[in-house]
Amino acid sequence: MSRKQLVIAIDGPAASGKSTTARLVAQRLGYTYIDTGAMYRAVTLAVLDAGIDPDDSTAVERLADDLAIHLERLEDGALHVYLNSRDVSGEIRSPGVTRHVSAVSSHAGVRRRLVELQKRIGEKGGVVIDGRDIGTVVFPDADVKVFMVADLNARASRRQAEFQTMGDDLPLDGLASELAERDRLDSTRAVSPLARALDAVEIDTSGLSIEEQVEIVIGLAERKSGGGG
Ligand code: DC
Repeated sequence: MSRKQLVIAIDGPAASGKSTTARLVAQRLGYTYIDTGAMYRAVTLAVLDAGIDPDDSTAVERLADDLAIHLERLEDGALHVYLNSRDVSGEIRSPGVTRHVSAVSSHAGVRRRLVELQKRIGEKGGVVIDGRDIGTVVFPDADVKVFMVADLNARASRRQAEFQTMGDDLPLDGLASELAERDRLDSTRAVSPLARALDAVEIDTSGLSIEEQVEIVIGLAERKSGGGG
């Protein structure tokens, strides 16, 4: 008997473990992983490339309307992000994009455009989708909703380790204040702020391994799809 193809929504603050967990859960279930943060980052890259002020909502929204963004998983297993057919997977992780992505993603027109795209990609189910507003706005009827949190120190240490694998040695306190500021902006914006859906299961990943995080989400998914395994 074929199983129902679920929509699994994972929200939470920056570096709480969402994307690694979402990617691995998708791999285990044979689902598609949708990284919505990558989409907001791609718009931000286009804004910066065009020399537009990230706070200028009219100019940013006009640009966002004309962009073609798509996500694709290549044979190497990694999720690649394309902006008007250009692979921008590396560039969207730059410090410049990270610094301005909260401003760009706060504009209503940008969100309207990307939420519509996210709904279209996920409508048939079989997706694990991570972001800030997935369980509240994009898929309020998601089958599984998770809200991942972790203390600031744990999150900053994870970011530091990620940068170290790319050869960058960044101080912990700088990373911690960057994360705290981004969370503040993301959770206080007027349109679909970072928030836990009332029916989301909160997982504190501060002391968990990646395997443990994945197992918890897989367990929730199995319960929903009515199977034991
Ligand atoms: O998950 P991330 O750190 O790559 O996300 C980058 C930014 O994009 C985040 O600081 C806020 C924005 N974002 C959003 O507003 N809504 C989402 N669903 C996903 C990300």
